[in-house]
Amino acid sequence: MAALTSGGRASGLATVEARERAGVRVRPARVGDLAALEGFIAAYTGDGTLLARSRSNLVHYLRDFRLAVDGTGGLIGSGALQLVNETLAEIRSLAVDPAWRDAGVGSRIVRALLGDARRLGVERVFCLTRRTGFFARHGFAVVPMERYPDKIWNDCRLCPRRDACDEIAMELTLPFAGPGTAISSRWRPDRSSWPPPR
Ligand SMILES: CC(C)(COP(=O)(O)OP(=O)(O)OC[C@H]1O[C@@H](n2cnc3c(N)ncnc32)[C@H](O)[C@@H]1OP(=O)(O)O)[C@@H](O)C(=O)NCCC(=O)NCCS
Repeated sequence: MAALTSGGRASGLATVEARERAGVRVRPARVGDLAALEGFIAAYTGDGTLLARSRSNLVHYLRDFRLAVDGTGGLIGSGALQLVNETLAEIRSLAVDPAWRDAGVGSRIVRALLGDARRLGVERVFCLTRRTGFFARHGFAVVPMERYPDKIWNDCRLCPRRDACDEIAMELTLPFAGPGTAISSRWRPDRSSWPPPR
């Protein structure tokens, strides 16, 4: 696993981009990732950035995870898409090693998770976050937290910041999900007005 650095911002974008070109990949998690993933998430739970997840919880939900790895295979980012019900899923445990931030790694993870949501046929994806600008750039809009009573009951009550929550609920409606379009590859763009008028 790449060393976690303090400070929160990339040490130098040019350096990060050079390493990005050197082979960052976003891929599904594997059983062999469990130890690194547990340590990675634990590094962000102390200050309440992420909710803690036990090893057994990670085993249970491992198939939800997409991981970003550097050219050497070291873990530099994680994110999970967890089904809530037949129409709704949540993005959870999203984090990127501070040394790699602002170089597109988090966006790649989010795009991969949204691809998973489309493949599953999920209609809506939500997250609780302090990074509203980041998620807005991915199409999410702010919604009332009360829209997710199950989340508040199951997870928020375990959060160390539950009495002073500063997270914002955001939601994205997937444009092509819904009956008959559960598999996104079935969708074809409407070419009736193609090419567009000049
Ligand atoms: C939120 C988080 C996952 C984003 O990861 P990231 O890898 O920095 O994300 P990206 O690099 O894709 O985007 C971050 C910013 O860098 C900018 N950026 C991305 N690639 C860039 C590039 N090549 N050149 C310049 N800027 C770039 C983006 O515009 C983006 O700006 P925005 O946040 O205002 O939208 C990361 O900051 C993190 O781990 N935070 C702590 C945990 C957390 O808050 N998780 C969210 C819980 S829901």
